Amino acid sequence: QSYRIVAIPGEGIGPEVVEASLKVLQQVAKLEGFALQVDYGWLGKTALEKFGSYFPQTTIELCNGSDGIVFGAVTQGGLLELRKHYDFFCNLRPITIVDSLVHKSSLRPEKIKGLDILVIRELVSGIYFGSAARGSDEKGAYGYHTMLYYDHEIRRIARQALQKAQQRRGKLTVAHKENALPNLPWTRLVQEEATAFPDVVVEPMLVDNLAMQMVMNPQRFDVILASNLFGDILSDIGGALVGSLGLLGSASLNADGFGLYEAIHGTAPDIAGKGIANPLGTIGACVLMLEQWGEKRAAQRIMAAQDRVLAQGYRTADLSPQGEEILVNTEQLIQLLLE
Ligand code: NAI
Ligand code: MG
Repeated sequence: QSYRIVAIPGEGIGPEVVEASLKVLQQVAKLEGFALQVDYGWLGKTALEKFGSYFPQTTIELCNGSDGIVFGAVTQGGLLELRKHYDFFCNLRPITIVDSLVHKSSLRPEKIKGLDILVIRELVSGIYFGSAARGSDEKGAYGYHTMLYYDHEIRRIARQALQKAQQRRGKLTVAHKENALPNLPWTRLVQEEATAFPDVVVEPMLVDNLAMQMVMNPQRFDVILASNLFGDILSDIGGALVGSLGLLGSASLNADGFGLYEAIHGTAPDIAGKGIANPLGTIGACVLMLEQWGEKRAAQRIMAAQDRVLAQGYRTADLSPQGEEILVNTEQLIQLLLE
C-alpha cells in the first residue's frame, strides 16, 4: 500500500506543526508497512509571492489525484478557494478531552471528564461565500456579506451529520438562528432528512443558547451540526473546553471522501518562529486522515503515543505546565512521541 499526500505548510506556526506531523506520519508509515510520498504545495501569501496567485495552478495539479492534503495555516487568501475548489463541504471537528488534561480545561473536571463532541461544520457555503461588497450611499460607507444557503446544501451536510450521530450516541443538535434568520430553515430541513434516520434524536437549538450550553454543560452534546460561520465560532469554544486551541484537529471531506486535514487554529503570530507551537492539533488531523484511509492501526498508534506522552506530564507552553509537569518545545514533544 502506498499513499501520496500534499503538505501545504503556509505561514506562521503552519510550517512548524506540519513538519512535526510529517515526522510522526513517516514513522507510523514505516511501522505499519505502508509507503508515504510527500509533495509540497503553496497557498496564501507565500504562494502569491512565488507564483503570483493565492491558490496557484501548481498547487491544484499536485493535489489532484493525491490521497489527502495536510495543511498548516495562512493569514490571508487561498484557503476558502481551496476548500471550494474540491467541494470540501463536510468539516469534522472532534472535541475530545484527553484524560490527563482534564485539569487544563477552563471548566471544572467533573464538567469535562469524558467529553466527546463532534462538531460538523458546513464549509463551502454560507456567509463566507455569499455576495459581498463595500459601498457607500447618502447615509455613509457600508459593507455587507450575504448568508445564502441552498436547501440542498443544508440537506447534504445534514445527511452526513445524521450518519455520524447514528454511528455515535444517536443525538444531533442543530445550531440555527431562525428567530432572526427565518429564511434559513435548518431545523425543518434537517428534520426532513432525519426521517431516514429514525434512531437519531434531532435537537434544534438557537446558536446563542448553544454557545452558552457548550460552556455550562458540554457533556450533554453528541454531534453538533452548524453552518459555516456558526461552526467556526462554536469550535473555538472547544479549544477552551479541552485546554488549548492547539489540541484540536479537523478533516474537511468532499463527497468522494477526498480530504483536507488541518488544525483548527491559525498562524499564531504571537508564538511563530519560536519552535514552541503545539503540534497535536495537526497530528490529530493526520489521525483523521489515517482513519479515512482505513489505516486504523496507524491511527491508534499515534493516539496511544499522544496519550502516553501527555500522561507522562510533558506539555507545550500553551498548556501552561505547572508543578510536576514538564515544559517541552515542538521538537522535544515529537521526539517523545516517536519513542
Ligand atoms: P490563532 O488560532 O492563530 O491563535 C489564537 C491563540 O491561540 C494565540 O494566542 C495562539 O498563540 C494560540 N495558539 C493557536 N494555535 C496554537 C498552537 N498550535 N500551539 C500553541 N498555541 C496556539 O488565531 P488568531 O490569532 O485569531 O489568528 C492569527 C492568524 O491566523 C490570522 O491572520 C487569521 O486570519 C489566521 N487564521 C488562519 C486559519 C487557517 O489558516 N485555517 C484559521 C484561523 C485563523
Ligand atoms: Mg476559526
